[in-house]
Order: sequence, then structure tokens, then C-alpha cells
Amino acid sequence: MGKAAVILAAGMGTRMKSVTPKVLHKIAGKPILGHVIAAARGAGATKIVVVTSPDGQAVRDYAAKEGADAVIQEQQLGTGHAANCAASALKDFAGVVAVTYGDMPLLTLKTFEASYEAQKTAGMAIVAFEAKDPSAYGRVILDRDGMLDRIVEFKDANDRERAVTLCNAGLLAADAKLFFKWAANLKNDNAQKEYYLTDIPLLARADRVACAVARTDEEEVMGVNSRAELAQAEAAMQRRLRNAALASGVGMTAPETVYFSYDTVLESDVLVEPFVVFAPGVTVRSGAQIKAFSHLESAEVGQGALVGPYARLRPGAVIEEDVHIGNFVEVKKARIEKGAKANHLSYIGDARVGAGANIGAGTITCNYDGYSKFFTDIGANAFIGSNSSLVAPVSIGDGAYVASGSVITESVPEDALAFGRARQKTLPGKAKELRERRASAAKK
Ligand code: UD1
Ligand code: MG
Repeated sequence: MGKAAVILAAGMGTRMKSVTPKVLHKIAGKPILGHVIAAARGAGATKIVVVTSPDGQAVRDYAAKEGADAVIQEQQLGTGHAANCAASALKDFAGVVAVTYGDMPLLTLKTFEASYEAQKTAGMAIVAFEAKDPSAYGRVILDRDGMLDRIVEFKDANDRERAVTLCNAGLLAADAKLFFKWAANLKNDNAQKEYYLTDIPLLARADRVACAVARTDEEEVMGVNSRAELAQAEAAMQRRLRNAALASGVGMTAPETVYFSYDTVLESDVLVEPFVVFAPGVTVRSGAQIKAFSHLESAEVGQGALVGPYARLRPGAVIEEDVHIGNFVEVKKARIEKGAKANHLSYIGDARVGAGANIGAGTITCNYDGYSKFFTDIGANAFIGSNSSLVAPVSIGDGAYVASGSVITESVPEDALAFGRARQKTLPGKAKELRERRASAAKK
């Protein structure tokens, strides 16, 4: 049986006070909508349709990038109306469709799976949760068999219904053909004059299709409507990612200070010191240590490497096995080969540093002339003396030695010693003479 998902994202999200559409704000480095798409896909949905508002071009572009289709809901007439806008995109689809909201980044693939599973047994399913504070959620009323009797929206509920704490999460699964038949027949005779998705089970019952109620935790269905809720959802996601890393054998002394991205890969026995940020695209191999206050993005760190404290790995940094990258060293689009060391205060960009090479404190690859980027190639076991500028394009041969303070503009052959600095001149006694002359001049 095929699986599809419809994700509603036509809401305005005005409370974010942002020019960025709500569902494109990021949690753990990935847009909220991306988390929902990933969960649906993880549960087996092969066709995913995102419902957007007319001015939601950025959302449609993002959906396309994630391999999802997008449709437009011309007017915001309610969640049932929004879901029905996906009918044309799914007209050739046979199977189960799960309908949910695009602003619930913590929804897991397990909950999607649970809805698809429950649908199989009953014909249709919704997901519900026990709310600590049910406030404005739709209330889930069960029948004597524990199946769904009805969902009552808060604004339409009487006092007895409002006292119910089982709430509608906003994930519904049904046979696609039947779903769109019911969605087309929804009415808006309710307190909000909206076409409610939550009325679908009533129409299903008229066709003798029952509705099972799967359960989830309140945290999973947390919707993001404001910056404060975005920060709360981020905190919850970070807790999840930290716990998953710890469970997989990553060592962290202060996990609450380490920030992950949705795709961070840390192998077992990686040690992460406090206050480290993993932006998207990072892989760290077993036995490597990431020391305090380091920032890594789209970078790879090999087995046993030491990075930081205060290191910055930018996109394209590849740190091989047993490399040391120390404090205030920035590496961008550069491969640092096995056992090489850059321990202090360096910029290495658009470069290769050969195995066993030593990059002295203050070494800079001058890779940019204001127009183009140029490559620096440093051979195996080369030694770059402190405070050298390597003006790219330039190459330093294997085993070559660059004297401290050099400005290197011409390539240095293998095993050569290169000086790129003025020769020192020392004048004995001249300092004393200078002092006396200046002191007597100042008195006058
Ligand atoms: C909805 C549910 C409620 C549930 C709650 C959980 C309905 C009628 N009610 O209420 O039972 O407890 O979610 O959070 O479904 N949207 C559109 N087009 C529209 C209207 C909404 O795309 O015309 C999208 C919004 O962008 C949002 C989602 O649907 O992502 C939910 O809409 P919202 O207005 O927040 O529904 P609630 O009133 O919270
Ligand atoms: Mg809502």
C-alpha cells in the first residue's frame, strides 16, 4: 500500500514578526517544514504535498528542494479546506494519506508510522495526546470501545467537553480516495466558519469507516507560532540530539552546552568539551576530541584528531587522522593530511597540508586577491615557520622549510630552505645613544 503525506503550511505565522515564512525558520539547522517532511518520508511516505499560501513562493521552493510537491490554498478557509487543496496533486495516488501541520518540528517518524499502522486496523486514525494544559486544542472524545467518537474544537466545545484533557495532535491518516471525497463535502457551520479537518471522522462514520486513536507525547506536537516557541522547540530538539549522541557512545562533560545540527554525525568515543557548536554537515570519527569553544560547519574530522579549544572549521575542512588543530586556527576548504599540526593562530584556506607538516603560529594562506581564490599546496613533513604568509598560488615541497616571518610568493622546492624576509641588522650601543639624544631633546 502506497503512503502519501499532506503537510499544511498556508498559515500566516504573523506572530513570528519575520519576513521569513514561519515554517522556514530553522530548528537544529533545518527548516521546521524540513523536519516534518523528513519524518513523513522516514515513515515511508513516497509522495508528499505541501499546502502553501499564494505568497508562499519561498515555501514552495523549499518543498521542491526537498523533493515534495506544493499546491496553493488561495484563501485560508480552514484546515479541512487546506487539506482538500492537495486533492489534484494526489488524484492518481492510491493508498493511505497522512495529513498534518507544517509547524510541528518535533513530530517523529514513529508517530507518523503509528498513524499509518492504526489506519490499517480501523480504516482511519487520528493521533491524540494528554495535554498538561489543554487550553485551545481540539478535544478528543472517545466512544465506549476507545475508538474516536468525535473531535470538538475548543471554540465549539461545551464545559463538559472542555474538561477533557485528551487533545487532537493534528495528524490524521485515511485512505486517500475516501479522504478527498470527505474533504470535498466538509461544511463550515461552526463557531469559526471554517472547514475543519477535524470533521472528517464524522463523514467517515457515515461511510461506516471507524477511526482509531493513536497516542503521542505532548512534546512532539508542539506547534511553533512565535519566536519564544521556536526557542522552546530548539531546546527540546537539542535535548533529543544530545541524548541520542550520549546513547551512541559520544562523551560530553556538559552536554547542555553543546549544540547539534539535525545531521551531525559523531562516532562512538568522540569526546566533546563544553560549548561546542556543530553547524550542519559535520562528521567526526571515533577517538577524535573537539575541545571547548570550537565551531564546526560542513567539515570532517578523522580518527584521533584534536580540534580546539577555540578552533573554527569552515565548509570543506577535512581534518585527517591524528591531526592537531589548535586555538584560534581557522580552516576552510582545505585538507589537512594525517598527523599534520597547526596549533596556534592560523588561517588555512583553499589548501592542502601534507602529512606530518607543521604549520607555525600565525601562518596565513593568502588565498584571495579581492577577486579570485587561489590554492596553496604544502607538502608532507614541510615546516612553516611562525608568522609566515604564503601568497597563493604557491606550493611548498615535501620536507621544505620556510623561515619564520617569511612572505612566500614563489614556490619552494622539496627539501629547500626558504627565507622571505629582510636580514636583521644589529647596531651595538646604538639604543643607549638614541635614548640619551631623545632625552636631552625633550628637556629643551
Ligand atoms: C488545529 C486543530 C485542533 C488541534 C490543533 C493542534 C482543526 C480544525 N483544529 O487547531 O483540533 O488540537 O490544530 O495544534 O484542524 N492551515 C492552513 N490553511 C488554513 C488553516 C490552517 O494551511 O486555512 C494550517 C496552518 O498553517 C497550521 C495548521 O494548518 O500549520 C493548523 O492550523 P491552526 O489554525 O493552527 O489550527 P488550530 O486552530 O491550532
Ligand atoms: Mg495551531
